[in-house]
Formats: sequence, structure tokens, C-alpha cells
Amino acid sequence: MFRKNTLKYLYEDLDELIRQYGSNRIDRFSFLSEIERLKQANEVILEGNEDFAELVENALLEKEYETLEQMAKTAIAKALSPTPSLKVLILSGAGISAESGVRTFRDSDGLWEEFDVMEVCSVEGFNRNPQLVADFYDARRHDLESKYPNRAHEMVARLKRTYPSQIDVLTQNVDDLFERAGCPDVIHLHGTLRDLRCETCQSVFEIGYKSQIGAICPVCHSSQIRHNVVMFGEEAPMYRQLQQSLDECDLFVVIGTSGQVLNVAWYAQWFEESLLNNLDPDENLDPYFKIVYHEKASEAADKIEAYIEKFLNGSPLIKDPETATL
Ligand code: OAD
Repeated sequence: MFRKNTLKYLYEDLDELIRQYGSNRIDRFSFLSEIERLKQANEVILEGNEDFAELVENALLEKEYETLEQMAKTAIAKALSPTPSLKVLILSGAGISAESGVRTFRDSDGLWEEFDVMEVCSVEGFNRNPQLVADFYDARRHDLESKYPNRAHEMVARLKRTYPSQIDVLTQNVDDLFERAGCPDVIHLHGTLRDLRCETCQSVFEIGYKSQIGAICPVCHSSQIRHNVVMFGEEAPMYRQLQQSLDECDLFVVIGTSGQVLNVAWYAQWFEESLLNNLDPDENLDPYFKIVYHEKASEAADKIEAYIEKFLNGSPLIKDPETATL
């Protein structure tokens, strides 16, 4: 009896038939009719994998049994070893935290509508008025305490826990919502809101959701303390990590960023497989990605998760996100 479960079983059944035929345990007529039954039993699976179905069909028509055998071998090797070398880079921005109530920067109600970015987020602004910058980050930190991770953070956390060495989680966000969703090893490219940095000895220490007023460095006891968020005009040391992930990864997944600071459209061109999820369409961004979802991150979360899992397990990927079922 043929199994109807997954492509892997389909390939295994096909391989078994080919081996039986190859070792003369069944004749050609039985082989062809068994293949036909196999195809019928797995119609649903084959439907989403027309290339495979077509190849089987053509090989049968042409009686290219060697091709069939080769196909089965390749397919089985692929199905049985989920290519552990495949890696996924998940890069997020403010949009992934928007549904948790953390304001984005450049949307219509974004932070840069209310604050002058060059006053609160640049080296020049900081040198001019450090208190204004401290107040800005105190307010962000205080605000964060009452926010909670959403389904998109949870989805990323689940994937990272399941495939720890195959997924890199990098974010431009300074909030702690990935960590609170249980996501290990998050790379914060722009720093962390819950930490402060000592300007004397450069130690980074955590203050939770408190104000930085009166903070003293626990290492050198200096009172020269600043926020631990990168400003325009200074080095972003974690960008080295970004470069490494871009070099190493095979699938580029971007969630909730306008790409105004990190040029994600440019990076996407280096990947054969890429997925973008942003609420709003953007003609400067969308054409560079293979799959694009314009919806809230929490609504796209299931599809993104399924896509990444399929990719890591070596299954054929969907081509048209509107019609494909996962
Ligand atoms: P932006 O505010 O520039 O972009 C937010 C993106 O999220 C937009 O493309 C929105 O369409 C999308 N978005 C909004 N709500 C969404 C939702 N519910 N689901 C999915 N997408 C949604 O934020 P970033 O690109 O992250 O740097 O900004 C990059 C950097 O600019 C920040 O890290 C910050 C800022 O200056 C520093 O402060 C150092």
C-alpha cells in the first residue's frame, strides 16, 4: 500500500519500485502500473510539485528508466539528509514589534514624526544635548516594560530553538521582545535598550526598564554613562556579524523594515531565495525579493515559518505565494 504522507515517502516508494524493477523482481508491466498507482495515491502531493510529476510522467512516456532511477536517487538523498549546511538569515526591523505596541520610526505615526532624528539619534545631537537623548531613551525603556512579544517574535523564537545552528536572528530593534519570546542568541545590530554603556571603561551593564538618571558603572564606578544604542555618525560593531551572516546564509528573510538604514534590497540580490514581509508595498524594495507578503507580521508568521521549514528540509519551495498552499 502506498503512503500518502510526504514527498519523502513518495520518493522512497518510487525508489523501492525502481529497485524491484532493476533487480527483475517485477516486470515492466507491473512496474508501469505500480508507478501509475503511486502517482494516483499521491496526487495531492504531486499537485504542488508539478515539476516532479512532469518529470516522472515524461520519463515514463519515454521509458527513460535510468532518468527515473537517477531522479529517485537524488530525491532520496535530498529527502533523507535535510542538508544541514543550509542557513537562513532572519533580519527584522521595527515593523515586527509594531503589533506589540512599540512605535516604528518612519511610518505615519512613527517616532521620527515626533522627534528630530538628528537631535536624539546622532553624534552631533548627543554632543549638543546629552540630556535630551537620555530622556528619549528613558522614555523608550519605560514604555517597553508594558509591551509583550507577538506571534511573529514567537515564530522566530520557535525556529531558532528548533534549528539553532541553521538560523541567524539579526534585528535592528533595540527592544527585548525576541528574548522575552524565548529566542536565544539574538544579534542586536543597533544596540539594546535595557543596557547602558560606561563611557570611561566601555562596560555594558543592564538596568532593565529603569531610567538612567544616577546610574554608576558597576565596574569602574564612573558616572559617565550613556545609552547602549548606536547613533548616526558612529560605528556599528555588530554590522560585522551582519556581513558574516549575509555571506554564510542561503535564504534571506526580512520582516518589518523600510530598508532606509540597512539596504536590504541590495542584500536580497545576493540570494537565490528571499522573502520580504512589510505592511506596506514599496516599489524600491519589493522587486528585489522572490516572495513578498504585504500584511501584518503576525498574520504572515505561519506562512513565513512554513516557508523556512520547507527550505531547511530541502523541499521544493512554493513559487506563487498567492495560490500555493503550504
Ligand atoms: P522603519 O520605521 O523605517 O520601517 C518600519 C517598516 O515596518 C515599514 O516598512 C512598515 O511597512 C513595516 N511595518 C509596519 N507595521 C508592520 C507590521 N505590523 N508588520 C509588518 N511590517 C510592518 O523601521 P526600521 O526599518 O526598523 O535605528 O528602521 C531602521 C532603523 O532606523 C532603526 O533601527 C533605527 C532607525 O533610525 C537607530 O535608532 C539606530
